[in-house]
Amino acid sequence: MNGRFVTLEGGEGVGKSTNLSLVVELIEAAGHTVVTTREPGGTPLAEEIRDLFLGVREEPVSGLTELLLIFAARAQHLDTVIRPALAAGSWVVCDRFTDATYAYQGGGRGLPTAQIEVLERLVQGDLRPDLTLYLDVPVEVGLARIDGREHDRMEREQRVFFEAVRAAYLTLASREPRIRVVDASRNLAEVQADIRGIVTGYLTGVAP
Ligand SMILES: Nc1ncnc2c1ncn2[C@@H]1O[C@H](COP(=O)(O)OP(=O)(O)O)[C@@H](O)[C@H]1O
Ligand SMILES: [Mg+2]
Repeated sequence: MNGRFVTLEGGEGVGKSTNLSLVVELIEAAGHTVVTTREPGGTPLAEEIRDLFLGVREEPVSGLTELLLIFAARAQHLDTVIRPALAAGSWVVCDRFTDATYAYQGGGRGLPTAQIEVLERLVQGDLRPDLTLYLDVPVEVGLARIDGREHDRMEREQRVFFEAVRAAYLTLASREPRIRVVDASRNLAEVQADIRGIVTGYLTGVAP
């Protein structure tokens, strides 16, 4: 039987990387094999595209270029990692996926949703995540959390950009039942208690 596809989403510093291991542990504890990965990236070629995408550069990068780079990386990731893993019965836990494209290139850059939908259909067919944890924090809280680390090209954007990203994520979450919103502005123990509840509940509903 096919595995399930679980994604973590959210803006900068919300705690995606921090909470990924908890999600993986809970799924493994239920007896499933898990492949942990991230976007953009997840294969050597796709990681090279990630470096191109996130590298700080003088030249302005058009929203459409971002969109095409992201979906080029995603096609490689899907064809060589995600689809084979799911077909082999593994669960896949991915740090960011196409919701981030709607949030960043749609909400943040202002690209029409219809352009993203065309590529989503081309690259993914019917494949969508089964469960998405969207970690939500006010923009200033997330930015404060990443204050100490070196900022990549996206992290150097202005506050108004991140507000648009967050608004787009919240709109998606209100439309898609697979997206569960976690208030990640609270302390880590409280955030993890919520994540535990959501993932455990989801696992209970999945046939063994
Ligand atoms: N609930 C939380 N409360 C306070 N700090 C947190 C919380 N969750 C994560 N952090 C810290 O915030 C920073 C960014 O977390 P990280 O997991 O790297 O975020 P992301 O991967 O979403 O950018 C890290 O230093 C992490 O330890
Ligand atoms: Mg991270």
